[in-house]
Amino acid sequence: MSTILVTGGAGYIGSHTSVELLNADNKVIVLDNLSNSSKVSVAAVQRLTNRDVEFIEGDIRNEDFLTDLLRAHKVDSVLHFAGLKAVGESVAQPLRYYDNNVQGTMCLLRAMQASSARNLVFSSSATVYGDPATVPITEDFPTGATNPYGQSKLMVEEILQDFHAAVKDTGEWGISILRYFNPVGAHISGQIGEDPNGIPNNLMPYISQVAVGKLPYLSVFGNDYATRDGTGVRDYIHVVDLAKGHLRALENLQRGPKLAIHNLGTGTGYSVLETLKAFEQASGKTIDYQFAQRRPGDIAECYANPERALKELGWQAEFGIERMCEDAWRWQSQYPDGFAS
Ligand code: NAD
Ligand code: UD1
Repeated sequence: MSTILVTGGAGYIGSHTSVELLNADNKVIVLDNLSNSSKVSVAAVQRLTNRDVEFIEGDIRNEDFLTDLLRAHKVDSVLHFAGLKAVGESVAQPLRYYDNNVQGTMCLLRAMQASSARNLVFSSSATVYGDPATVPITEDFPTGATNPYGQSKLMVEEILQDFHAAVKDTGEWGISILRYFNPVGAHISGQIGEDPNGIPNNLMPYISQVAVGKLPYLSVFGNDYATRDGTGVRDYIHVVDLAKGHLRALENLQRGPKLAIHNLGTGTGYSVLETLKAFEQASGKTIDYQFAQRRPGDIAECYANPERALKELGWQAEFGIERMCEDAWRWQSQYPDGFAS
């Protein structure tokens, strides 16, 4: 059993990962400033697992408070989800993004150094591959960012690599960088899920809100990409598969100190129209759509080669697009207004 600090644990991926951590008998402490989430998700995690979670409302940029927290709870490992993630917003407010995502991670690393927490799993993104020359994408592809959000992820990856190089002779530190593809879906209970503020930016939450009648139709951003039906192709991954990937990544660090980088994706891409059809099938609803201009910054195709995670972590995604849509729909139809329902 480990004592694990989950930063951003009230959020979408952090809450699903907390469920898996608790089910595997770990002690979980959630630290979240609730800037993009609700405490209701933490209560749901406790209910679903029938276990206690220590919830602390606070900010990762408060270094002294973080150091005290890590020491007081004798935390050994940190899963670091806390951060801001909206691409458009990051273009408008770059300083806020660098402060939260980069400065926040620096505070966390210094607090870890001042305590005995030595394993860190970091939420990175396939966005660090920029516009890849080919697909599927392996971890050794060149990296690059096209917006401040992506740049903040890349900067943190580089900081983590420099930091690990400096401390590796201690033989104590394990750092795992996980590059998520497109997390979607929800816990099978439909009691926790993705709860975006306002109008969703991402495809699956947008489709869900059309299906439940909150939005009139989906705008399909571009139908002239060089893909099988002209719409963008992505590697959607069930959030519970993603959550389990974190447990395997942590076990990998516990087997011996290292710095590791892994893609977490399924290896299969679906187009916007294929995803929409799968959601219609799962929900029994007709989802209206209209073709619209390409969204600036979008790429045609992005999907993972997930072989390294299988080889080194013994992890692979189990759920397909049907199950992702069924679970997303259960959550959306049970809680049409998310945690405020
Ligand atoms: P989310 O917004 O649901 O969760 C992030 C949580 O962090 C929120 O609960 C928010 O309140 C909290 N938070 C933000 N800044 C904080 C701070 N300074 N101190 C304390 N708490 C803070 O997002 P998510 O989808 O669960 O994403 C989790 C992580 O995974 C993020 O780092 C994100 O960039 C990364 N990621 C997400 C996706 C995705 O599509 N969801 C894809 C790739 C990477
Ligand atoms: C987006 C972010 C990426 C981030 C990821 C998190 C951009 C440019 N990229 O990726 O940095 O890591 O979310 O999951 O914002 N689509 C529509 N209509 C919509 C919404 C989306 O047609 O209303 C299309 C997009 O053009 C794309 C696909 O659906 O082809 C998936 O879009 P989205 O869910 O936003 O994810 P990404 O663009 O892959």
